[in-house]
Amino acid sequence: MDGNGRWAKKRNQPRLMGHREGGKAADRTIRSCIDHGITHLSLFAFSSENWLRPADEVDGLMKLLARYLKQESQKQQNLGAALNVVGDLSQLPDFVLTEIEAAKKLAPTSPKITVNLAINYGGKWDIIQAAQQLQAENTPITEQSLSEKLATLPSPDVDLLIRTGGELRISNFMLWQTAYAELYFTETLWPEFNHQHLSQALDWYQHRERRFGMISEQLHSPAAN
Ligand code: FPP
Repeated sequence: MDGNGRWAKKRNQPRLMGHREGGKAADRTIRSCIDHGITHLSLFAFSSENWLRPADEVDGLMKLLARYLKQESQKQQNLGAALNVVGDLSQLPDFVLTEIEAAKKLAPTSPKITVNLAINYGGKWDIIQAAQQLQAENTPITEQSLSEKLATLPSPDVDLLIRTGGELRISNFMLWQTAYAELYFTETLWPEFNHQHLSQALDWYQHRERRFGMISEQLHSPAAN
């Protein structure tokens, strides 16, 4: 969800105003995903590296995330969305942890969509914490066993990764889970992202040929196998 700061700067507003608008875009996107029948959505709200930002921005983001969880979790439940916070929660302030716990209790048992809200999340952290769990259990590390310990479980691997704001990088998001994801980059700043932008991304995705290491002929002609 990149581009909040630039969106605010263009309007001579403080960066936090951009993050606030970003919260509204997140809300819109969850609804649009439900309309499209998408069952898993992961939103990168705060990375393990974002602590390096100025203290007032970090503080503002934490308050915004706590408020979002408080205000939105009931709304999301009514929509059939289960909010699931993923990341290293050990460093989060108590007021955020309280709202995470409250949101967890509201999650519907058979959600239309699972929304992974990544807070203090890093793709490298996720792989390490999964490996550490296996090591503690003395379980051999395999692709299967490690996949089953990722923080984003039970969500499957990512099909489509959308990055707004024009940067062409993954920035330590779900590194394992995006191994075969289609990568969609758009100049649109996150606070402006809407239903139409999502439809465009999905339309692009539908025209991608996902070969997973195979060749095109294998996918299109069973006789070639
Ligand atoms: C990156 O934009 C965005 C973030 C570090 C925070 C993302 C947070 C939100 C969208 C708001 C909270 C979300 C929810 C779901 C409540 P940036 O600040 O790096 O933007 P810039 O590159 O334009 O400076």
